[in-house]
Amino acid sequence: MKRKHIVAGNWKMNMDYDAGRDLVKAVADKLQPSDTLVILGTPYIHLRNAASIIKDISNLKIAAQNCHQEESGAFTGEVAAGMLASCGVDYVILGHSERREYFGEDDQLIASKIDAALAAGLSPIYCCGEKLEAREAGTENDVVGAQVEAALFHLSTEQLAQVVIAYEPVWAIGTGKTASPEQAQDMHAHIRALLAGHFGQEAADGVSILYGGSVKPGNAKEIFSKPDVDGGLIGGASLKAADFIAIVDSF
Ligand code: G3H
Repeated sequence: MKRKHIVAGNWKMNMDYDAGRDLVKAVADKLQPSDTLVILGTPYIHLRNAASIIKDISNLKIAAQNCHQEESGAFTGEVAAGMLASCGVDYVILGHSERREYFGEDDQLIASKIDAALAAGLSPIYCCGEKLEAREAGTENDVVGAQVEAALFHLSTEQLAQVVIAYEPVWAIGTGKTASPEQAQDMHAHIRALLAGHFGQEAADGVSILYGGSVKPGNAKEIFSKPDVDGGLIGGASLKAADFIAIVDSF
């Protein structure tokens, strides 16, 4: 099965309004039409304007970096999935290790955010990945397997088809230390096998699994060459249009 190749940027908490607008415009200008889907994960303040800048570019979409699990209500400071959809957003990054670590998000909460995103018509980019201790103890498959099961196994096959998975080993995020292409491939194959065991091979074969963790223009091609690596979730290198586009062009 031909899966969608996806390169998604996660700007995290970077870029004020002017800088963000300029970055969206620069990516939009440089991006060539191709089969690779490109997604910009921006802070909330940019979403509406970014969606309007990219609206005529079919392979460019916008993601939020979080949403609340409820539809609406007295949750000061929070943003609901339906509000994101109303801004022209198509994707939402959920379960990122920084949300798990600094905001105490657990598997149960992340699963409820996935449900809220799907109900609002958004596609979740679900992040999973082990910490260094688990990698050193050789338990990375168990840790990531448990995350995938907790967040996704309650979904229907139709819902799974809307989900993108990002495998991000925590020890490789922002550290300059990348998982080897073989380590990425092994984990992606493991995740796909788990999905196949639960949802069936056809459904598992349709899910794009991205790798994230210190992907740069210099290492993207080798990582993306692996059969179960369908793209990348890019942090630091998504903040410069030239680097980000060079990664997109690595397919
Ligand atoms: O969401 C993106 C990841 O956390 C990777 O970040 O490319 O800066 O290592 P990084």
